[in-house]
Amino acid sequence: LRAARRPSVIYMPFQECTGCLESLTRSFAPSLESLIFDTISLDYNHTLQAAAGHAAEEARLEAMEENWGEYILIVDGSIPTKLNGMYGVSESHTFMEQLEQTAEGAAAIVAVGVCAAYGGVGAAYPNPTGAVGVADLIKNKPVINVPGCPPIPEVMTGTLVSFLANGVPDLDAHLRPRAFFGNTIHDRCYRRRFYDRGLFAKSFDDEGARNGWCLYELGCRGPTTYNACATIKWNGGAGWPVESGHGCIGCSEPGFWDQGGFYEPV
Ligand code: SF4
Ligand code: SF4
Ligand code: F3S
Repeated sequence: LRAARRPSVIYMPFQECTGCLESLTRSFAPSLESLIFDTISLDYNHTLQAAAGHAAEEARLEAMEENWGEYILIVDGSIPTKLNGMYGVSESHTFMEQLEQTAEGAAAIVAVGVCAAYGGVGAAYPNPTGAVGVADLIKNKPVINVPGCPPIPEVMTGTLVSFLANGVPDLDAHLRPRAFFGNTIHDRCYRRRFYDRGLFAKSFDDEGARNGWCLYELGCRGPTTYNACATIKWNGGAGWPVESGHGCIGCSEPGFWDQGGFYEPV
């Protein structure tokens, strides 16, 4: 008997830095390996696949044809729209065309990273390429945003597994799964007790910083940032930005990069 076919996943990188994929490869539970070998069939990914050029594109078209209406499209990176999308071209097609073509047969699209979700660094002022996120272009398919720069690995794999098990999860107004983005960093931060008592570090090396006081006055954006860093953490639970002594810079919010300076109070 042939083993049951695993759900097809097509992963398309556009205007990105590979940081999101780097992050995904660090997922502990489930690991990327277990995901690829046991749960999904990763049928296209520029960076991980052995094929290149025409052979790679043929693999994508073949996966689309065989799994039309059922495959999951993962996108990372923003999509340039100025000059009819000419800032991003692959295989003689603009990223806009490739996204629209591949989205057509997808069951859903998972936009990983703040670039794919909302434009991210590519869309930062003056946004020379007219960069936008997936949901700005694709209106006829479910889009699940998993923002962050990059996103937490387990939030990406968890969202994927959740979609495979139960379909589109409960999303917030910015299309983020509430299971991972339902609370602010500030809601769950272990330094919150210092915030509530008005104890703030005034510089990165003063006594307050050494005592682990709240980083709000050093520009922490935890109060306005929705993400799971304070609970799931990074590197398999080893730590997260605020635990390392730096405030949250709001990397999972729309407008990340332009939304104020990193080191100014919110
Ligand atoms: Fe790179 Fe951040 Fe954009 Fe991901 S979200 S592609 S890590 S700049
Ligand atoms: Fe809130 Fe940031 Fe202070 Fe933590 S360090 S309590 S997230 S302001
Ligand atoms: Fe990003 Fe803030 Fe977490 S900057 S990594 S959402 S602590």
